Amino acid sequence: MTVTVGIDKIGFFTPDHYLDMVDLAHARGEDPNKYLIGIGQSKQAVIPPTQDVVTMAANAASQILTPAIKADINMVLFGTESGVDNSKATAVYLAHLLGLPANTRAIELKQACYGATAGLQLAADFVRVHPTAKVLVIGADIARYGLRTAGEVTQGGGAVAMLVTADPTILALDAISSYHTADVMDFWRPTYRTEALVDGKYSTNVYLDFFKTVWADYQAQTQRSIADFSAFVFHLPFTKMGRKGLRQILPEADEPQQASLTAAFEASQADNREVGNLYTGSLYLSFLSLLRHGTLVGGERLGFFSYGSGAEGEFFSGVLQPDYRSGFDDDFLTRQLADRQAVSVAEYEAIFQQQLSNDGRDTQLAVGQERAPYYLAGRQHQQRQYRHQATN
Ligand code: COA
Repeated sequence: MTVTVGIDKIGFFTPDHYLDMVDLAHARGEDPNKYLIGIGQSKQAVIPPTQDVVTMAANAASQILTPAIKADINMVLFGTESGVDNSKATAVYLAHLLGLPANTRAIELKQACYGATAGLQLAADFVRVHPTAKVLVIGADIARYGLRTAGEVTQGGGAVAMLVTADPTILALDAISSYHTADVMDFWRPTYRTEALVDGKYSTNVYLDFFKTVWADYQAQTQRSIADFSAFVFHLPFTKMGRKGLRQILPEADEPQQASLTAAFEASQADNREVGNLYTGSLYLSFLSLLRHGTLVGGERLGFFSYGSGAEGEFFSGVLQPDYRSGFDDDFLTRQLADRQAVSVAEYEAIFQQQLSNDGRDTQLAVGQERAPYYLAGRQHQQRQYRHQATN
């Protein structure tokens, strides 16, 4: 008997503050429409030093985990390129913070923005073999390019947490997918750097080439065509990137379908436009945005393009489940985004410089204003001090 496997629940976390892209444009002497239209970003999450990928992942995961679900989790797969240790996995810190059972596999996965997709596919294969298993998959990152760089407008941060199970509530994953790897220097971050090195225009071209390659291969493997899809969801380092991807295949659709695929894309970019780049989590925030703002119904097939610079690309698909809206807390997510407060460019620049230093000194961070359940209080004896507080 074939087991139906996929995404059962999704949680998303981004911190309390954002920077308005119109303010950034004025400060950098750019036309605001370059950022709003040309790049396609309205706001960007500003990450305080009290949030790192572990705490953001815990804040996202705590939205979807009950004590009963926690007791059943067998594996944690943590995709990130903003890890806090070169040896110990963020997944181990996370499993401890969340109080997951000790008989859990906890591993960190790295391949730029592709890490969470690797986690999702490995989790799905695991559940196909062990149908009672539940796997927690994380995509969490802080996208940092540096002040006054070309990539500054494409920064952001946050975490997506997904529960992968049999008979999922949200999306049943198709077993066939198409993937492609090539050694490309479009974006990388050597271990001695806190900000990425990037050739943004080259990266855009590689992304589009990879999409063409895996989309063609997927169609050859499955005999499906664009007519079989209700929406395409893209990795969105900035929303214009996915728009370019969609434009590449739109001529394959007839006119009514072009209109419906374009409307679905608008829904899928709405939340990313407000948060900025999450690296590993971007594709899955876009999926959540499509579920929240779109008009899809159960039974429709969705296509996903995952891209991680360096580079790895994958096209996969899944069928939306009838009760998908019960797999995430729409009101909570709306409130989380609406309740954020704007910071000025000067405040953003100050926060950008306040990350925990790389010198290993004992540090006590200012934590009085923290509203999220999980946060970082500082560092003592070379160890990060994670905290959990009860919240309403
Ligand atoms: N109104 C509307 N659009 C405008 C505009 C205006 N006043 N001014 C410029 N634009 C458009 C440009 O035409 C261009 O659109 P196009 O890409 O469709 O041609 C877009 O805005 C960007 O302008 P550009 O001059 O190319 O911007 P840039 O040199 O500052 O670089 C990125 C933009 C995206 C390459 C840069 O921000 C970057 O490198 N980001 C990181 C990308 C990344 O993370 N890649 C790796 C992960 S996939």
